[in-house]
Amino acid sequence: MYRTHTCGQLRISDAGQKVTLAGWVQKARKLGGMTFIDLRDRYGITQLVTEEDPGVGREWVIQVTGEVVERQSKNSKMPTGDIEVKIEKVNVLNKAQTPPFTIEEVSDGGEDIRAKYRYLDLRRAPLQRALALRHRLAQEIRTYLDAQGFMEIETPYLIKSTPEGARDFVVPSRMNPGEFYALPQSPQTFKQLLMVAGYDRYFQIVRCFRDEDLRADRQPEFTQIDCEMSFVEQEDVLNTFEGMMRAMFKNALGVDIPNPLPRMSWYDAMDSYGSDKPDVRFGMKIHEIGDIVKGNGFSVFDGSEYIGAIAVPGCSEYTRKQLDELTEWVKRPQVGAKGLVYIKVNADGSIKSSIDKFYTPEQLQKVADCVGAKSGDLIFVMCGPKRKTQTQLGVLRIEMGGRLGLRDPKVFAPLWIVDFPLLEWDDETRRFYAMHHPFTAPKPEHEKWFYSDRKEDLERVCANAYDFVLNGTELGGGSIRIHNADMQSRMFEVLGISKEDAEYKFGFIINAFKFGAPPHGGLAFGFDRVCALFGGQETIRDYIAFPKNNQGRDVMIESPSRIDKEQMDELFLQSTVK
Ligand code: AMO
Repeated sequence: MYRTHTCGQLRISDAGQKVTLAGWVQKARKLGGMTFIDLRDRYGITQLVTEEDPGVGREWVIQVTGEVVERQSKNSKMPTGDIEVKIEKVNVLNKAQTPPFTIEEVSDGGEDIRAKYRYLDLRRAPLQRALALRHRLAQEIRTYLDAQGFMEIETPYLIKSTPEGARDFVVPSRMNPGEFYALPQSPQTFKQLLMVAGYDRYFQIVRCFRDEDLRADRQPEFTQIDCEMSFVEQEDVLNTFEGMMRAMFKNALGVDIPNPLPRMSWYDAMDSYGSDKPDVRFGMKIHEIGDIVKGNGFSVFDGSEYIGAIAVPGCSEYTRKQLDELTEWVKRPQVGAKGLVYIKVNADGSIKSSIDKFYTPEQLQKVADCVGAKSGDLIFVMCGPKRKTQTQLGVLRIEMGGRLGLRDPKVFAPLWIVDFPLLEWDDETRRFYAMHHPFTAPKPEHEKWFYSDRKEDLERVCANAYDFVLNGTELGGGSIRIHNADMQSRMFEVLGISKEDAEYKFGFIINAFKFGAPPHGGLAFGFDRVCALFGGQETIRDYIAFPKNNQGRDVMIESPSRIDKEQMDELFLQSTVK
């Protein structure tokens, strides 16, 4: 037997027992003729003590036998802090090179070096807690969905392009010269085919691949909790997955989320929060103030389609310097605003603004009343095209929420965003794009507009599409699908995809719909994001055992990498990169 106990197990009640432990040496230090060793494994740390220095170094793997004794100076922060093990015998199982960074709760290593030695970083407790949470959540999901009659079914990775809006990763086929597979951006078409096949309730915790620009909450390969149901309406889908989330919150975190969850229409989310994934942990809502401020000779406002404002609580004493800094901040290309107007509602009730020249204090007070600003608040105003300006105000709102400490990761404010527009017009390419994806159905009551050729009609069509949003992050999304071949063909037509192209790319699904497709709908959650937010983080990387860096590289295994000429030839590939 390598061990009788783990390094997280022994307590004062074990004092006097003879035990054998095995693990890694986190630290060894000498103190007054004694050597103290912190021995670590996945379960915790146990202090070992000996009069003879066994000469072990950091991260050596050792096995020790000894007696559990009560510690003289106890450590109440450690579960094993009341005891230590008096070493009788040390057996070195493996030596270790000195690790390139400290393997402790907080490491001294930078991100790059830790990524290169990911297996060492993974020994650290914060990462072990993250992966343990991920494991727990995966078990909760399976238990819940199994109990609801869902079947876990795997779908292929070597497929044909799926239209989720990102670029595909492609794989050349040796057996089919000049042809390529695409890795799935999601199993969307397959889960719908499973509904046609009569499987009724499907789920899969599945890897998806998207070649897109990476951010804290985006990886090129990530995991979805992918689900689909037959004979359902939006209400059935929302109830089922609200239930799943409720079980996950309760069982993994002991947190009760509201029942039922709040719902907000996409239009309200955009108007009040400037985002389709509003962070509703705090107010600071956006208000339109065009009616109050237009027509006073301030040409910037007078010529704008939309003027909106937010009231930032308790910031009326912001200095010139702070205001200038924020103005520069919103002018950065990431936000893209032209400028920022401020109105200070001072503690004494007086009003001071950057547009005093054009407005009386009474008019500015009207703005303050409209946005709900109280004494001591600071109002920010932006103007321009409606949705663009709302989005910019939304970004500023999130920034101010963060600066004011209103975005506590321990507070959870989930909600559904519903009633998305079906289509999104793009001025540059002068065509419609699917807001969600091309398999989403128009609301039945909006079908008349869906078959119209007028742009204004098509813009009005809403979908029974929904997103699950938590703390300003889109955790999941889905919709009720098209299940009729003619309607699916119409969708491709609206999206400007030619009949031939639609046939070539999606003929299989249009065809399947001709063989008795049931009404169906579903959704997918981003599992990595779920884990990170449950863990109180915005970055998903620590919740994935072996993630990629921002350049899409795995610096540990040095991938991607070049391949041999022979391999290239075999795949009929030629590189133009020298
Ligand atoms: P969607 O594209 O919205 O929907 O993806 C579902 C969820 O997956 C997560 N996600 C990501 N997580 C990490 N890295 C990424 N690059 C990434 N991209 C997406 C998000 C998102 O909400 N087939 C549809 C679902 C459906 O209609 O049933 C789909 O894939 O949390």
